[in-house]
Amino acid sequence: MRKEFGVKAILYPQPVLILASYDLEGNVWAMNAAWGGISEENEISVCLTPTHKTIVSALKQGCLTISPGTAKEVAACDYVGIATGNKDADKMKKSGWHFEKAPHVNAPIIKELPMTIECKIKEFNTDTCIMKLEIVNVLVDDSVLTDGKIDLEKLQPIAFDAANRAYVKLTEKVGDAWKSGLKLMK
Ligand SMILES: Cc1cc2nc3c(=O)[nH]c(=O)nc-3n(C[C@H](O)[C@H](O)[C@H](O)COP(=O)(O)O)c2cc1C
Repeated sequence: MRKEFGVKAILYPQPVLILASYDLEGNVWAMNAAWGGISEENEISVCLTPTHKTIVSALKQGCLTISPGTAKEVAACDYVGIATGNKDADKMKKSGWHFEKAPHVNAPIIKELPMTIECKIKEFNTDTCIMKLEIVNVLVDDSVLTDGKIDLEKLQPIAFDAANRAYVKLTEKVGDAWKSGLKLMK
């Protein structure tokens, strides 16, 4: 027996993407987005509401950054997804996060989130809600690298569990891609 859940936006894993941008006055805005993922070799697509403060600002700059949410920063990651800069001018001060400009786009790095993807906005279709973003660089802090490679035990990225309205860790390795299945090839 399988229980039917009907038409629900539930998929595993769903990312916790923290999008960040500067407005024209140089203030930082950030929000949480789960409806997104890699759509080409150098492209991420995300379904976004155009009126979010972070998105209004990003559209004016033509760019934004995306940082995977982490277990250590789960409260702030959730907070930027429930508070809006449209209603609270102090939203980002309350997050407790600190920022510096990314090297390749005019958008902020969130210092507390060790991985940052610098993106240029390619297109935004408000009818479909899909924003396509070109990846121009990926920055990863030394503190979460082992032998120069991204170490998930150190980064502690989290996923969004839509069915249970929860955040879960994505850390345990269970196989090798393009390798674990080789034993079944005859
Ligand atoms: C778990 C979670 C996932 C979210 N996913 C999205 C999403 O994919 N797209 C979107 O437009 N908003 C999403 N939101 C809502 C925005 O993060 C939220 O409206 C936020 O307050 C916008 O902030 P801003 O107006 O300051 O930019 C999500 C919120 C949470 C908590």
